[in-house]
Amino acid sequence: MRVIKKISEAQVLAQRIREEGKTIGLVPTMGYLHEGHLSLIRQARKDCQQVFISIFVNPTQFGPAEDYKSYPRDFLRDKRLAEKEGVDIIFAPSPGEMYPAPFHTFVEVEKLSEPLCGRSRPGHFRGVATVVAKLFNIIRPHIAYFGQKDAQQAIIIKRMVHDLDMDVEIEVLPIVREKDGLALSSRNQHLNEAERRAAPILYKSLQEAERMIKLGERQSRNIIRRMEEMIKGENLAKIDYLAIVDGEALKERERVEGKVFIALAVRIGKTRLIDNLMLEI
Ligand code: PAF
Repeated sequence: MRVIKKISEAQVLAQRIREEGKTIGLVPTMGYLHEGHLSLIRQARKDCQQVFISIFVNPTQFGPAEDYKSYPRDFLRDKRLAEKEGVDIIFAPSPGEMYPAPFHTFVEVEKLSEPLCGRSRPGHFRGVATVVAKLFNIIRPHIAYFGQKDAQQAIIIKRMVHDLDMDVEIEVLPIVREKDGLALSSRNQHLNEAERRAAPILYKSLQEAERMIKLGERQSRNIIRRMEEMIKGENLAKIDYLAIVDGEALKERERVEGKVFIALAVRIGKTRLIDNLMLEI
């Protein structure tokens, strides 16, 4: 396994791999790998002849008051895990390598970046789209892999790829959960014991929403009210947003019909967690 830090070196290597007629899979990450990332790497390993992962905590997707500095990092651990999964190349640039000054070009996916996480994290998806576009330009993967946990991110990246005619296939793989339903996230690391016990409330509220829908409830406000009630019953939890939107344009839905997406962000103590459920009725 090779570790590459320079963009020019990654570009030369990726070009050589393409010239040899081999397929490239890319798993973009911010490191602190967990089973969710590993499931993406395993799929890439199955599908592609050469697997790149990127490890880069991307400063442009964090707001000034967010957790860029405290975002968990452990490169040696990540390297060991990647090697065990048969990753061929880790691309791990520095912030200066990715954003040399002056840097003036950003990718903005309008509309889809506005609701949900976009509302509570202004500029977040502009940073995500920009870094992912750069990674695609540097590595030129045939397939890139993302997790369904960041469903809005996946929808935005698909839109960017479509709108900017990028020649890459986007694969979105299911959320990987702990036994108690908590969606895996590098940020779970920040939870203390009591917060960790409280954190499955996100998934429990989604399960309750699914149960209500199965029993025939179609009014979004009734489902949201019930989810809110459950989350507010958990002392350490504070709702950031809770919404039922359509699964493509992300517009709020009064009724649960067709392809719907139930999404929520909740602060457990200081840690902001997200989760979601995609349903087709
Ligand atoms: O999902 C993430 O970890 C990040 O948003 C990504 C896609 C690696 C871009 O920095």
